[in-house]
Amino acid sequence: MAAKKTWVLLLSIKQDHFHFVMAELRALAEMMKIPTHHFSDADCALNNVRFNLKEDNDITEAKLREMCSRSISIYGLYELWEEGASYEEVHNNFRENDDSLRAPFYEKEFAFEIELIHRKKMTMPERIRKFDSFANCLPMRGKINLKNPQCKITIIENYGVPKDNSPRGEDDLIYVTVGRFLCNGQRNLIVKYAVSNRIAVGNTSMDAELCLFMTNLAQVRAGSLVFDPFCGTGSMLLTSAHFQSMVIGSDISWNVMMAKGKSARMGQENRKPNETLRGALEGYDLGDKCVDSLVIDNNINPWRTIDDGWFDAIITDPPYGVREKCEKIGTSKKFDDWIDFDGTHFPDKVAYNLNDVFADLMKFSNKHLRLGGKLVFWYPVSTVLEHGKLLYPRHPSFELFADCEQVLNMRTSRILLVYSKIKSQHSEDVDASGDVLSLQNGFRDIYFQPCPPGTKPEERKQWRPKQAEK
Ligand SMILES: C[S@@+](CC[C@H](N)C(=O)[O-])C[C@H]1O[C@@H](n2cnc3c(N)ncnc32)[C@H](O)[C@@H]1O
Repeated sequence: MAAKKTWVLLLSIKQDHFHFVMAELRALAEMMKIPTHHFSDADCALNNVRFNLKEDNDITEAKLREMCSRSISIYGLYELWEEGASYEEVHNNFRENDDSLRAPFYEKEFAFEIELIHRKKMTMPERIRKFDSFANCLPMRGKINLKNPQCKITIIENYGVPKDNSPRGEDDLIYVTVGRFLCNGQRNLIVKYAVSNRIAVGNTSMDAELCLFMTNLAQVRAGSLVFDPFCGTGSMLLTSAHFQSMVIGSDISWNVMMAKGKSARMGQENRKPNETLRGALEGYDLGDKCVDSLVIDNNINPWRTIDDGWFDAIITDPPYGVREKCEKIGTSKKFDDWIDFDGTHFPDKVAYNLNDVFADLMKFSNKHLRLGGKLVFWYPVSTVLEHGKLLYPRHPSFELFADCEQVLNMRTSRILLVYSKIKSQHSEDVDASGDVLSLQNGFRDIYFQPCPPGTKPEERKQWRPKQAEK
């Protein structure tokens, strides 16, 4: 019987992104039809940053390569050759274990490389000594080709998480893995879609890495129809279009959608005419992915309801009223006689309650997202008040798929909530009005009530705003 392959999926995890990484892997695994239990949190502690996956009916190299073609959490994919707690153990394994999987590469042009986990630097003499140490156990007979090798042999060294901040050295090595490099993940997209590289930029434009997480958590595919009802400069629509989905964005701000008014760019007074959603997409040669960009108040949106929703994914960052206004069309003025609109009227705007923003978003998604589609949005929370799954907005049509926290400061966080639409809006147990359980979110109370001046650093965490003490 032919030997089964094992692959190493090496991850790139920043400490505060652990839950984003795990959620992304599970979302992509689900897309590629790989059972998600292969990517459990427990199997991937921070000091490990990798998964070993054995070949079976569900796991194939093609599926893993496809995951890599999407993932920003995956650093690289390797076919495992040998591993062990020390170089000596790995060398012995090379000598003693069946080599039928690697033997076809012995005659190929090759190169060695080293990837370091939890160690920053390694001198060239140390690297060369380590490459040379395989001369007696790995019979590579092809030419060395550093530029374009047919077989790149990667040594992955893990030094373990340092207990203090002291730099790790050769003696701290805890595990060595040797494998054949297959492909990288998509971390290069973080630079490509960096805010500084985009045509349209606003004060609340979303960081590229988070946009890519959101896009992957929404499981967008080629041809998916993706909508952002609070699109601003369209950050998440850019990354969705990158994966070949068709995008529609809307926003209440006429200025943002039409590229009018003041620019958020340093040293630039007004927005340039191409700083629209379409212009931003064209900047990446993705203009053909733009279905439309519209000026709409999500509170009174004009979308026609059809039997089943027609968006494949709704990805958004609603306003929290901190850096951008949280408003809807309305008027607080009392008129004796109603105004006779002459076609030049621009409606007034009134404050949009934070809980209503999320309730409206879920009701909207209940009507317009297709069954099985994903709703992905940020939900701000105050960490000094009680928060957790029970306080997230809930709706009978939606099941929580993932929740990933990003700490904003000592007292506030925002949670990336990902819901799957599991019921049609016409299901018997879905309330026709699509009511949303949306509990009072204390985010704004805390955000706008900073600790009084002079509060000592050690007292800041314990400090509670007046309203929470009642
Ligand atoms: C956090 S920003 C979104 C930023 C966006 N993700 C980007 O990358 O530029 C929220 C956006 O919601 C818009 N907004 C506020 N109230 C709205 C409403 N009632 N309907 C639609 N959009 C609204 C604001 O104009 C703002 O552009």
